[in-house]
Amino acid sequence: TNGKASNIVWHHCSVEKHDREELLQQKGCVVWITGLSGSGKSTLACALSRSLHSLGKLTYVLDGDNLRHGLNHDLSFEANDRAENIRRIGEVAKLFADAGIICIASLISPYRKDRDTCRALLPEGDFIEVFMDVPLQICEARDPKGLYKLARAGKIKGFTGIDDPYECPLNCEIVLQQKPGICTSPCEMAKEVISYLDDHGYLR
Ligand code: PPS
Repeated sequence: TNGKASNIVWHHCSVEKHDREELLQQKGCVVWITGLSGSGKSTLACALSRSLHSLGKLTYVLDGDNLRHGLNHDLSFEANDRAENIRRIGEVAKLFADAGIICIASLISPYRKDRDTCRALLPEGDFIEVFMDVPLQICEARDPKGLYKLARAGKIKGFTGIDDPYECPLNCEIVLQQKPGICTSPCEMAKEVISYLDDHGYLR
């Protein structure tokens, strides 16, 4: 749908996605990292971006927390605003992928439906969902920003995993597990994502 505007027509340009991909020697896509706060999404996003950059691949990280300082500064953590946060990041990610870039989106994105809406924006295969499968106890023990403590004390309402839902993916492309006793380094996790991208022709 075109939302509220009518009489708008798509304008084609003679330089297309394929031409940009040719120039970059890679295939544009979206690596969508979902998981609880403190599950290591941003750390993986950075490690992945760094490793791909070293391989000569152009990436761009869209971090939920960071974009809430600008593009999404008007949005709260209510379900509707989270949905809008995810929709906007999905649309921006789609533009980056169309630019031929490997776009790494890292945000909690707690609702399956919202993630699936973003998936549907992209050509088949180009939305690669990565689930940071880390139990709440581990995220809470890490508590890098002290937010779980505040949520437990009732000082933050609607905190994901405490008094707000997180719906884990049922059919995602990559699951990165951290359990007590199983600790994988960000670098190793990045390697796993890179082999997926390589196997599926995104690195050329
Ligand atoms: S969402 O659900 O996808 O819209 O969230 P996102 O844009 O990724 O923002 C999550 C970061 O915001 C901080 N924060 C909260 N998270 C969850 N619930 C509540 N109520 C909340 N309030 C603030 C928190 O630092 C999240 O950062 P990460 O990087 O996930 O730890």
